Amino acid sequence: MPLPSIIAIDGPAASGKSTLARLLAEELGYLYFDTGVMYRAVTWIALQRNLVIEDEAAITSLAQSIPIDVRPPSEQDGRAYDVWVEGQDITWQIRRPEVDANVSPVSAYAGVRRALSAQQRRIGQRGRVVMVGRDIGTVVLPEAGLKIYLDASAEERARRRYKELIGRGEQADYEQILAGVRRRDHIDSTREVAPLSIAEDAMILNSDDLSIVQVLELAREMVNQASKAG
Ligand code: DC
Repeated sequence: MPLPSIIAIDGPAASGKSTLARLLAEELGYLYFDTGVMYRAVTWIALQRNLVIEDEAAITSLAQSIPIDVRPPSEQDGRAYDVWVEGQDITWQIRRPEVDANVSPVSAYAGVRRALSAQQRRIGQRGRVVMVGRDIGTVVLPEAGLKIYLDASAEERARRRYKELIGRGEQADYEQILAGVRRRDHIDSTREVAPLSIAEDAMILNSDDLSIVQVLELAREMVNQASKAG
């Protein structure tokens, strides 16, 4: 029985989607593609160019014109891939707090979503891919053979982000991170276009109190189930 060729993993910010997707893709020999990177890259470049984030027309035209290149990792500094824009390696810049603070409004613009979703769909349709985002199973690749909705409480997700930043030697304030996670949840799930929502045929996985090894084990079972059903 064939394994599902397209695996969509959606869920709120910092629920562990990227880690799960990366490990699952490695195991299956699939491409791992984190679509949040594209929204982050547009946001970083917009900030670099001093564009006003509220200027929907300017941000949309940036998203339509800027080639975002996601490549295999060129350095062993914890990165899963390189992100290049206009000859610049922006892999870590897109993780900065100012990007976290501005990426939700950017990703709420219909034109931005149209431009980036079209690119994501083209990559996904080649198959053998684990694609991560908010709307992969609902909008970008509704034909995915397996859809996992990875959830976790806001407190747990803020704790993970906090540890991640401290681990990288950066400054972090838990309460501030928690407020940011809640703010992004609110914007991501109430925006008009492709809000974060659970696809009808998604399998829900709650990662509160689970280690990554346990989450991966449950995801493996879902892959097997989907392969039997397919
Ligand atoms: O997963 P992340 O935190 O890197 O995502 C960054 C932002 O991009 C987040 O606010 C939600 C948005 N996003 C989206 O709207 N749709 C996607 N497919 C991926 C990310």
